Amino acid sequence: MKVLIFGASGRVGMALSAAAQANGYELLAPAHAECDLEQPAAVGEYVLRHDTAQLVVNCAAISQVESCQDDPLRAHVVNAMSPAAMALACRHTGARFIHLSTDYVLDGRRPGLKSADARCKPVNIYGMSKAEAESQVSESNAEALILRVSWVCGNPEKPSFVEHMLAQALRGEKLLAAADQDSLPTHAQDIARVILSPRLNGVSGVLQVTSCGEPMSRYSGAKIALEHACALGALQQMPHVESQLVCTMSRFRAPRPAHTAMDNSALLALGIPMPSASACVCRAVEDYMRWLRR
Ligand SMILES: NC(=O)c1ccc[n+]([C@@H]2O[C@H](COP(=O)([O-])OP(=O)(O)OC[C@H]3O[C@@H](n4cnc5c(N)ncnc54)[C@H](OP(=O)(O)O)[C@@H]3O)[C@@H](O)[C@H]2O)c1
Repeated sequence: MKVLIFGASGRVGMALSAAAQANGYELLAPAHAECDLEQPAAVGEYVLRHDTAQLVVNCAAISQVESCQDDPLRAHVVNAMSPAAMALACRHTGARFIHLSTDYVLDGRRPGLKSADARCKPVNIYGMSKAEAESQVSESNAEALILRVSWVCGNPEKPSFVEHMLAQALRGEKLLAAADQDSLPTHAQDIARVILSPRLNGVSGVLQVTSCGEPMSRYSGAKIALEHACALGALQQMPHVESQLVCTMSRFRAPRPAHTAMDNSALLALGIPMPSASACVCRAVEDYMRWLRR
């Protein structure tokens, strides 16, 4: 079976490419320069030209919140218009289309786990472009599947807050983590496993893909990661982590939604297990330590 992956050089795309190859898929993974999502018509034509792919997965996006805030038009074209073009082209070729979305489509005003039908009311341009993608993809292709993921970790080559925190601790630097923003981490390899699961056959619409448990702040996640690094012997002693408020983080120019943890019960009901949030963080720590020793 042939799979066409957009964004194969990204955090999730790398994990998906590796998993697809390990599972015997034939892989088609155009590089950014070969198929630029700033050109939606060319992206649609690319999918039409490669109509032997039975599965098309879009892992490509401008995923940096500040980059989207700085260039809203580009964010809209790359994050929404090109995915819509992929979805439409897949309707013509008959390929299954899976698109990745984000917990940042939610406004995150209220604490607690959010259901997939909670109203999307993004607070920044990134979230708006991704929410627009969700509607355009569904309108263009009713059989498309949209996987909302959150706080992706577990790819040492594309560090998330878990790997950043660990790297800073190993260098003996001052550690700061936001305590007033919570969600649930998702391991890149778990996302890849979900995408390739036959249990998703025939499933369309929005499905939330995260680890299990109660919402976790970056501060709590950082402490779990560092405690695990201590237990593994990678750190001699537990370093101090200072809690921070998101509004004091000067590198964040765009607003962040505060509480975006998603309910993954629909995923579990399909018979696809997910780890607990702390197991997810600990696995990312182990992956990072193994990567450092390579
Ligand atoms: N990271 C997270 O914590 C997180 C959380 C929630 C949802 N998500 C969603 O999950 C998906 C994957 O995220 P990620 O973290 O893997 O992203 P990432 O590491 O930033 O990778 C993005 C990918 O998109 C490609 N890309 C960007 N602009 C492009 C363009 N104009 N044309 C072609 N390719 C382009 C990049 O290629 P180059 O590197 O070559 O430019 C890269 O392969 C995205 O839909 C994101 O919104 C991510």
